[in-house]
Amino acid sequence: MPTQSTTDQLSHIWPLGSRIDEAGRLEIGGCAAVELAREFGTPAYIVAEDDLRARAQRFVAAFGALHDDVELLFASKAFPCTAIYRTLAEEGIGCDVASGGELASALRAGFDPARIVVHGNAKSDAEITAALAAGAGTIVIDGADELDRLARLVTTPQRVFLRVTPNVRGETHDFISTGQADSKFGVELADAPALIERIQATPNLDLRGLHMHIGSQIRDLAPFRRAVEAVKDLGEFPEIDLGGGLGVAYTSDMDVPSVEDYAATKVRAVHETLGTDVRIVDEPGRALVANSCVTLYTVETIKRNVSTWVAVDGGMSDNLRPMLYGARYEAHVADRFGGGTGCHLVGKHCESSDVIVRDADLADPRVGDVIVTPVTGAYGFSMANNYNGIPRPPVIFCKDGDARVVVRRETYDDLFARDV
Ligand code: LLP
Repeated sequence: MPTQSTTDQLSHIWPLGSRIDEAGRLEIGGCAAVELAREFGTPAYIVAEDDLRARAQRFVAAFGALHDDVELLFASKAFPCTAIYRTLAEEGIGCDVASGGELASALRAGFDPARIVVHGNAKSDAEITAALAAGAGTIVIDGADELDRLARLVTTPQRVFLRVTPNVRGETHDFISTGQADSKFGVELADAPALIERIQATPNLDLRGLHMHIGSQIRDLAPFRRAVEAVKDLGEFPEIDLGGGLGVAYTSDMDVPSVEDYAATKVRAVHETLGTDVRIVDEPGRALVANSCVTLYTVETIKRNVSTWVAVDGGMSDNLRPMLYGARYEAHVADRFGGGTGCHLVGKHCESSDVIVRDADLADPRVGDVIVTPVTGAYGFSMANNYNGIPRPPVIFCKDGDARVVVRRETYDDLFARDV
């Protein structure tokens, strides 16, 4: 998703307003990355607040231009941090949660409960009870067992969706593909009619429509259309929830569909198969937050053997995606862009898979350099962990040259906080 005022020097993957200053230093939200590293330490997640807001506004405008009755939800698993929730709530976006913990976070951040949609393929009684008690707007029924559970626990009218697997495969990594029939999510098309009937016969459950989510980091839009077509014979409902899934560009050579094309594909598919008199719900996660954020690291050691190994102070504890999905990222020295030194950018964890960027190209990297990896806003913070006792990084919001900590760095005391 290219952003208007990113300078010529930087590609479309960087946050809006990023630039290289006169001294050759990367600036995010008006703040020099090397200064941020000095002030707040590394590793650190740096979020350009204006970029985050601009992406939210672009989603709202893209869907709003094509359809009157749209509900956009932030798939909060992508970046479940209170400040992110608050910012997106301020931009008029609702929230999708996938667990009791995400529900608690969304409520704490001040989301209107009526605009919270509750997901999960293995919801516990406690999670369902919490959702009902909070007045969560919609609960997505993921299967037959869950319907039994919800029927037992619900005592007042509750809006629900039924999640169906449309048997449509988007082109993406197997680990993040969910639309195929053989999936742990949702119910198969063939089983849906019986379940729809049962939901409609259950007191207090108001079936508003079907939900689907075919997968994540999807760059070819056609499967989104096929998924809508696949469910059209399951009945007429006032709403349809289309899930999320739009892919983002992680490296400068990557092209992805625009938000406008994504919205048009989904909205047109609904108009042409289900009609125009239906509320369209969409759940973007990655595409709202990924490109707004970069991670800063500091080089601790450089080793030369068969390869050159540039080791930084983070790694698989702050970004698991390269290790889990073979995801590619870019890396740069934050005040010396350009390349020249072929190397592997690695983390500090006791595991050989802890490679952040294999075959990186850095400009003469040195111990003490600040390294930046762009596009770390989605599923970095949320999948962060404490492997090797590494405290999780802070989240810093930058805007107009001001930086503020919105999540502090973990301390060693935090690592022991649960001891009893
Ligand atoms: N709705 C539902 C029901 C979902 O399960 C997801 C993502 C989304 C919406 C948002 O999808 P997005 O717009 O972000 O593609 N950890 C993986 C991604 C897992 C996605 C899980 N579900 C990764 O780092 O790539």
